[in-house]
Amino acid sequence: MKVIVTKNYEQSCKTTAELILDQVRTYPCSKLGLATGGTAENVYPFIVDACQKGDVDLSKITTVNLDEYMGMDPASEQSYRAYMDKRLFQPAGIDAARTYVPSGKNDPEEEIALFNEKLYGDGHLLDLQLLGIGVSGHIGFNEPGELIAGVHIQKLDESTIKANARFFASEADVPTESITMGVGDIMKAAKIVLIATGENKVPALRKLLMDDEVTAQVPATGLKMHRDVTSVIDEELAEKIGWKE
Ligand code: PGA
Repeated sequence: MKVIVTKNYEQSCKTTAELILDQVRTYPCSKLGLATGGTAENVYPFIVDACQKGDVDLSKITTVNLDEYMGMDPASEQSYRAYMDKRLFQPAGIDAARTYVPSGKNDPEEEIALFNEKLYGDGHLLDLQLLGIGVSGHIGFNEPGELIAGVHIQKLDESTIKANARFFASEADVPTESITMGVGDIMKAAKIVLIATGENKVPALRKLLMDDEVTAQVPATGLKMHRDVTSVIDEELAEKIGWKE
């Protein structure tokens, strides 16, 4: 695993955006796996900025998002569809038809089939997958306890519900289930870029970067078996986990 240590979270976002921009500049038809969440949020403005300055052409990319809450209406402001439209697709002028964010409102079996069609139907595997990491050690919404390879419906870990309560009126409003790419879907991406910051990610990052164990108790540890993963962390987090260059 490659680890890039930056000065601070803002630099991590910039560095992460540059890795994605490099991918698209090298291969304009890239198929990108995208992530939502508080950490990835500040990566997108750098991509939008490059696009608006004409430093990258995003018109030929296609995108597939990692996950969504079950029951969430794509029309809701809290949906990951709304998140992506607002932060990337609309400001960068990316045609909605080239993007896929799973719907939490559709029949689960139908949505799983559609998700698989978007991932595999064109025979083009993801060129780059962007990831955050959960307090629980999840990637996508693959929670501790079991590693499931394919797209599935996943019950959210208590720690995820608590962590994500900040995006809802109260903890009781956080959906308890999600639809997510499986760990195997994520692992099929040619490149993976993971961005992390914050004290609450220290235990998960330690398990990812500081030992060799792969365990279903920390799903992100599956990434140790992938040949092209870059983790982008800031100095503060690096110091807290005891990472040495
Ligand atoms: P966060 O979420 O960036 O909001 O902490 C990351 C994740 O759950 O993957």
